Amino acid sequence: MSDDLLAEIVSAIPLPALMVDQTERIIAANTDARTLLGQNIVTRHFATILRQPQVIEAMEQSLRDKGRAKTRHLANDGAQDTTFEVECRYMNGVGAVSGGAVLAVFQDVTHLEQASQMRRDFVANVSHELRTPLTALMGFIETLRGPAREDAAARERFLQIMTDEANRMNRLVGDLLSLNRVESEERVRPREELDLSGLLQSTINSLRPLAEDAEVELRLTNDPQGPVSLIGDSDQLRQVFTNLIENGIKYGGSGGLVEVRIQSFERDTAMRGPAVRVQISDKGPGIDPTHLPRLTERFYRADNHRSRQLGGTGLGLAIVKHIVNRHRGRLRVESELGKGSVFTVILPQQKPEEAQV
Ligand SMILES: Nc1ncnc2c1ncn2[C@@H]1O[C@H](COP(=O)(O)OP(=O)(O)OP(=O)(O)O)[C@@H](O)[C@H]1O
Ligand SMILES: [Mg+2]
Repeated sequence: MSDDLLAEIVSAIPLPALMVDQTERIIAANTDARTLLGQNIVTRHFATILRQPQVIEAMEQSLRDKGRAKTRHLANDGAQDTTFEVECRYMNGVGAVSGGAVLAVFQDVTHLEQASQMRRDFVANVSHELRTPLTALMGFIETLRGPAREDAAARERFLQIMTDEANRMNRLVGDLLSLNRVESEERVRPREELDLSGLLQSTINSLRPLAEDAEVELRLTNDPQGPVSLIGDSDQLRQVFTNLIENGIKYGGSGGLVEVRIQSFERDTAMRGPAVRVQISDKGPGIDPTHLPRLTERFYRADNHRSRQLGGTGLGLAIVKHIVNRHRGRLRVESELGKGSVFTVILPQQKPEEAQV
C-alpha cells in the first residue's frame, strides 16, 4: 500500500490516530494526532514521541506479538488534564518493511472518568450520611435493651433522640429523591403561569412557626406591589424559596431578621430581558469566601458541625441550583463575614406565548 493511501486512511479516522511500522517509526498521523503529539511526528521513532512508559510498552507489545494492546495516555494542554484510552491494533501487509504496522487510536475518556469518579464520591457520601444516624439508632437500641431497660426517664430521652435521627434519615432520602427528580426534569421547560408574589407570601407563611421558634422576623418587600407573573413550576419554586429562607433562619437567624425582596426589571442585565429578582438576605455570621464557590455542591456544608446539628443534609442548595437552571435563571450568593448573606435568584420572565415555542 502506498504511503499516500495510508496517510489518507489514517486522516479519515475521526480520532487522533497514527501508524508505526516494524522500523519503529511513525509512518502516518492524522491532524488530531499531530495536534495532540506535535506537528512533525511522521518519520520519527515512536518512543521519542509517545514517551509515556505504558504507551511505549503497549506499542512494543503490539509490534512484537502482531496483536492488540490497550493503555492510557495522559495529556495536559497547560490548562487541564485529559485522559486518552489508546488502542493499538496490528495490521498485516502495510508499512515500509514487509510485515505490518500498528495503528494506534486515541480516545478521550476524561468525561467518562469524571462521571465515574463523581458516582463513586456520591455513593460514598450517601453511605456516610446514612450511616451516621443509623449508627446512633443502633447504639440507642442496644442501650434501651440493656442499661436503660428499667429507666423510664432515660427511655423517653433516648426515644426522642432516635426519633430525631430517624427523621434525619427520612429527610435525607426525601432530598435525594427530590434531587433525582429535579435533575431528570432539568431539560424540560416549565409551563405553568404563576404569581411569584403570592407564592412567596404563602411560602413565608408556612415558615413562620420556624422563624418564631428561632426568634427571627420574616419580612417580605414587594416593589412594586401587586402580583408578579412568571412561567415556572410552582412546587419547585416553592422548594427553592423554602430552602433559602430556611437557611436564612437556620444559619443567619442570629441577626434577628430575614428579608425577602422581589423586584421586577423590564430589562435585567444578567438575563438580557424582563426578569424577576428575589433576594433573601440575613444579618447572620455570613459565609467565609473560601466556601462560596462550592456551596451548591451536593453535601457541601460551610460549617459542618453546625449544619449537621441543625439537621441539614447539605443537599438544599444543590436542589436550588438545579431548579434555577431548569428555569434558565441564575443563583448568586454574596456574603461578608460578620455582616450576613444575600442569596439572589434571578428568573427570566417570558410572556406565555414565547414559552410555548
Ligand atoms: N444564609 C446562610 N448563612 C450562612 N451559611 C449558610 C447560609 N445558607 C447556607 N449556608 C451554608 O451552606 C451550607 C449548604 O446549605 P444547604 O441548604 O445546601 O444544606 P443544609 O442547609 O445543610 O441542608 P438542607 O438544606 O438539605 O437541610 C449550609 O450547611 C451552611 O453551612
Ligand atoms: Mg438548607
